[in-house]
Amino acid sequence: MKCKVCNGEMHKVIDFGKMPIANGFLNRKDFDNEYFYNMSTAVCKRCFMFQLIDQPSKEMMFNDSYAFFTHTSKSMIKHFENFFDTVNSLFLNKINNPFIVEIGSNDGSTLVNFKKNNLDHLGVEPSKNVADYSKNINNINTLNNFFDLDVSKTIKQKYRNADLIFATNVFCHIPYVHSIIEGVKYLLKDEGVFIFEDPYLGDVLNKTTFDQIYDEHFFLFSLTSAINLFDSHNMKIFKVEKQDTHGGSMRYYVSKDVNKKIEDSVDNYLEIEKNMQIDNLQIYNNFRDNCEIFKTNFRDFLLDIKKKGKSIAGYAATSKSTTILNYCNIDNNTIDHIYDTTPIKINKYSPGTHIPILDHRDLYKKLPDYLLLFAYNHEKEILNKEQKFISLGGKWITYVPEIKII
Ligand code: TMP
Ligand code: ZN
Repeated sequence: MKCKVCNGEMHKVIDFGKMPIANGFLNRKDFDNEYFYNMSTAVCKRCFMFQLIDQPSKEMMFNDSYAFFTHTSKSMIKHFENFFDTVNSLFLNKINNPFIVEIGSNDGSTLVNFKKNNLDHLGVEPSKNVADYSKNINNINTLNNFFDLDVSKTIKQKYRNADLIFATNVFCHIPYVHSIIEGVKYLLKDEGVFIFEDPYLGDVLNKTTFDQIYDEHFFLFSLTSAINLFDSHNMKIFKVEKQDTHGGSMRYYVSKDVNKKIEDSVDNYLEIEKNMQIDNLQIYNNFRDNCEIFKTNFRDFLLDIKKKGKSIAGYAATSKSTTILNYCNIDNNTIDHIYDTTPIKINKYSPGTHIPILDHRDLYKKLPDYLLLFAYNHEKEILNKEQKFISLGGKWITYVPEIKII
């Protein structure tokens, strides 16, 4: 058990037990052949990278029927519009005819903002169904492949060096991170910028949001561990920006120029991480204890409602819900079904726990007493959209930052 980043010794954090693929929504006929792996986590004693110990193969996770489409969330669409405005005013509008590459471009929802501004772009996306959507519906220049050093060489040959390369909620998915960084370094202009944005370890530890841990999230970055990673490639993180998305994310700006001026934001977050003792193994032990306490409290809370004869349905069949449902052993004896907007999930069953997924438009056909909000990161958007549920007497359950009824 060695660190995927620096090969250092690791400290085991928590073993979540048998887990299915987070986005592996399945048909009833496939229940008996469902794939499980052991989801166990560790932190490196040397570079402090928090990581999974094992991960299913990338082809198991990102395939022809990948279930996540960025465009299903209005707030994420807005977030990526803002992302464009930010990088445009910071760098792009100062460059003549820039070339932009996105790694893991999903359905093209982010690159559409660059395209609207007539910017030369390429999206690299391994899952064929979302890549097709990106090409055919969003008219984004898309390459259906896994990004790595070899792919970056073909891109450079066919196009040119990039001024901006970015990856949102993608970089943390990939255990062979060195090949990605080598690819980025190869493709990026000397004065170019690499930006990545992923769920932030600081939030996961502080809020016990262990549901951010699933097969696709191989790493949970802190600034401390990310700096160690890029140092090993002679690259500098020169700016960070905290984001509200996914229950707390961090955006990192990276340069090939080792003499690049480091902005205050980096020192500020390093100080915050020092104060929370992100380099002290004890906080990872505390996290493990907090997860176990949550499991007991959450189960008791839901079973108590069931004992009172009330019904509970889930809202949004998120990847995160796979972790929470499987770790807490909650199946359709407790949750009747989960409502979701994504066509590819509807009429299937949740991974591991086999709770039926229903079309969100069916919610008002047979109202549950309680709706358990799995997409707590979209709480505002969803509560606003489903005001009718409350006015008809329904109640929401959320569990971040604490288990409560709204
Ligand atoms: P994720 O947390 O794995 O990114 O998945 C988000 C899921 O939430 C996706 O299946 C769509 C679903 N969803 C809804 O059903 N209704 C909503 O209003 C929003 C924002 C998301
Ligand atoms: Zn390490």
